[in-house]
Amino acid sequence: MGALRWYCDRGLRNLCESCVPAALLPSRQRGTIDTPPCEITPMRLTVNGKEHLVDDVDESTPLLWILRDSLGLVGTKYGCGIAHCGACTVHMNGTPVRSCSVPVSAVAGQQITTIEGLAGKDGKRHPLQTAWIDHDVPQCGYCQAGQIMSAAALLRHKPKPTDADIDAAMSGNLCRCGTYLRIRKAIHAAAQSAGE
Ligand code: FES
Ligand code: FES
Repeated sequence: MGALRWYCDRGLRNLCESCVPAALLPSRQRGTIDTPPCEITPMRLTVNGKEHLVDDVDESTPLLWILRDSLGLVGTKYGCGIAHCGACTVHMNGTPVRSCSVPVSAVAGQQITTIEGLAGKDGKRHPLQTAWIDHDVPQCGYCQAGQIMSAAALLRHKPKPTDADIDAAMSGNLCRCGTYLRIRKAIHAAAQSAGE
């Protein structure tokens, strides 16, 4: 079977025909026939404390699409796709990263946490989640998972952040609805409740 190059916005490319799940074909456009057959190496990912074997994607696929399409963790959102908006923020070993711009091969063996894994093992909300509700932070809500993940990383490193700390840490998370002031209030409230 000849090798095909498939173009899509999810980083899946240079896949031979037998490797492309039939269910996904309608969303793709077939391109040139000039690449060698792909070799896909299974990868083990640890997401929210659970290990997953991912064996059907190119290693350059952004982590975001593995989370959403392979693992069904759709709390992490796609905004810009170029690491400029923060909607896709997750933690890698506790550090916020833009999952739209991190290839899945770079996270094998690392600890990934998404918004679905932020609550405690007992299901108790993270103080930020409670503060977000108490301060009625979201408007449309689209950016908010990324906002909370960035805020959680901030509080881990700086339990009592100043306004300046918050503005600096959150500057890469955009909100088209302009919820910035409520976000700042909620972060202060979470910091206070965590310290009580
Ligand atoms: S979707 Fe990743 S930073 Fe915008
Ligand atoms: S709440 Fe709508 S984009 Fe932030």
